[in-house]
Amino acid sequence: MNPERTHECGKLRQEDIGRKVIVSGWVKTRRDHGGLIFIDLRDRSGVVQVVFDHQKNASFFDQAKAIRPEYVLAVEGEVVARSEETYNPKIPTGEIELTVTGLEILSPSLTPPFYIENNIETDENVRLRYRYLDLRRQEMQETLKMRHDVFKAIREYLDQRGFWEIETPVLTRSTPEGARDYLVPSRISPGNFFALPQSPQLFKQLLMVSGIERYYQIARCFRDEDLRADRQPEFTQLDLELSFCSRDAIMREVEGLVQHLFEKVLDRKIEAPFEILPYREAMERFGSDKPDTRFCMEITDITDIAREAEFKVFKNIVSTGGVVKGLNVKGGGSFSRKEIDDLTHQAQSLGTGGLAWMVIAAEEIKSPIAKFFAPGQLQEICARMEGEEGDLLIFVADEWSAALEVLGELRLQLARRLQMVNENLNRFLWVVEFPYFHYEEEDDRLSANHHPFTAPLEEDLELLDGDALQARSQAYDLVYNGVEIAGGSIRNHDRKLQEKIFGLLKLSPEEAYEKFGFLLEAFQYGAPPHGGIAFGLDRLVMLMAGRRSIRDVIAFPKTASGNCLMTGAPAPVVAKQLQELHIQLALKDIKKEIDNEIKR
Ligand code: AMO
Ligand code: AMP
Repeated sequence: MNPERTHECGKLRQEDIGRKVIVSGWVKTRRDHGGLIFIDLRDRSGVVQVVFDHQKNASFFDQAKAIRPEYVLAVEGEVVARSEETYNPKIPTGEIELTVTGLEILSPSLTPPFYIENNIETDENVRLRYRYLDLRRQEMQETLKMRHDVFKAIREYLDQRGFWEIETPVLTRSTPEGARDYLVPSRISPGNFFALPQSPQLFKQLLMVSGIERYYQIARCFRDEDLRADRQPEFTQLDLELSFCSRDAIMREVEGLVQHLFEKVLDRKIEAPFEILPYREAMERFGSDKPDTRFCMEITDITDIAREAEFKVFKNIVSTGGVVKGLNVKGGGSFSRKEIDDLTHQAQSLGTGGLAWMVIAAEEIKSPIAKFFAPGQLQEICARMEGEEGDLLIFVADEWSAALEVLGELRLQLARRLQMVNENLNRFLWVVEFPYFHYEEEDDRLSANHHPFTAPLEEDLELLDGDALQARSQAYDLVYNGVEIAGGSIRNHDRKLQEKIFGLLKLSPEEAYEKFGFLLEAFQYGAPPHGGIAFGLDRLVMLMAGRRSIRDVIAFPKTASGNCLMTGAPAPVVAKQLQELHIQLALKDIKKEIDNEIKR
């Protein structure tokens, strides 16, 4: 039999009844009824039932009996109607089946280590070890298809908007995005290393100096950092850069792209322009620089009331410059004492001293700290926090960012627990005006919150010569339902300003020149004002596909400890390879040293 298929399994319908077809695919299930064998045959498009009948297929019936799940078959047969009582409404091909007239077993299969079906509870490490089988599951294929659709829609849109897709090197110099670099030793240049790019940042800026004006790239980025559910050591960015564009113009481009993506891929309308929240306001209201605004529960300041009240814990913290912030947990009045104690422990584990609380009951306020407040002060707190009977008010006193971050985290946990999050909402917002620097105690120096090519806010330029920690940047993050999906900024295009920022980061002119001389030099040859942004594409696809881990939207991801369980990477290499690369492993010596130390 000629095994070349004529149709896809999942596409056969009643209209095909009477047709002679050849389908190919994997055996999903096999049911042996003696003289009849039913096989659900699966390819990328779906499943169709094929029927072997001993009377009609005597010459290859024994072969059919030997078929097991995940065998690959080519089956020739006639599409026939199922009798109505055997319709399977769960699959689109449920009203027909194939009466087999020919069979070829293209490839047998061992018994797979897990079922090839949706919603399996198999340990993820087993799925990753046999990723090629995991990807055979329909839900994984649908996710990969969605990723493809997203990529396609991105290219379609950006092409229309005049962006050029340009590749930048993977073997390059270190780019300062704040993580550790992956290094690649050079064979030809002993002792020298390439770094894999943490992002194409410097190259895309150089492309602006080259007059490209509008660039994009779907770029692989490499960061050697501690991994979490939404991070991978290699991940994919949609990277953009534009010349002669204001921040607002860049935002409009990005909003248009997001609208196009959601419309094309999910058939969902997204409203634009997106809300813009200055960092300080985002922190004050939501205790986060990536607020989830699908529910309210905003933070309230009661520092002024706490300053006047008699409660020592609050008073002391306020007198040393701290703040008291509160959250109204609607309906939380029904929490048990134990549940409130758990919240307190939660707050403590987030790094603050404790949690104070008040329950608004019918006639009174129940709280271990109510006695320290005058009736008028209690009334004022309730009014400000819009407290009603049945609510639980919680308070954290601490230094500004600590108090807000703790309440921000509790806000998220409580909203999830009380099912306050409307999963059908799509909330996009921009966070802007981030502080440019933070102080790093370990190195006694300032460090840039975004990367150091970001321009400072014009009105804060003077602060660079004084209280630089107060200076804000022209960076912007795009937040979708509480997840940072993109980040970017308007850049410095002036060499002097760029050098000044390197200076504030305690990078000597020699070091700056050694690391970024090519960029500083380029800025001397007519650099246009420019800015850009990069999306974490894996995160975006994860959210669009409603998955909880970015590993689910990457074909061959690494584990949380940065390994590939399928290939076994990273792995040792043979001595000859090391020799060619001029590398000598210090591991043995280090082990000796540690052993010696232990002995001592
Ligand atoms: P940034 O470092 O904010 O900016 O990265 C942009 C976006 O990439 C995603 N992301 C990650 N996704 C998966 N795994 C990781 N380890 C990981 N790290 C970051 C996030 C983030 O918003 N060059 C700048 C962009 C610019 O200024 O134009 C940059 O890389 O979703
Ligand atoms: P203490 O004096 O430590 O026993 O605390 C008295 C009350 O204040 C307890 O209910 C604590 O949970 C609460 N508390 C302690 N520290 C803080 C804080 N930083 N913010 C809010 N409440 C606190």
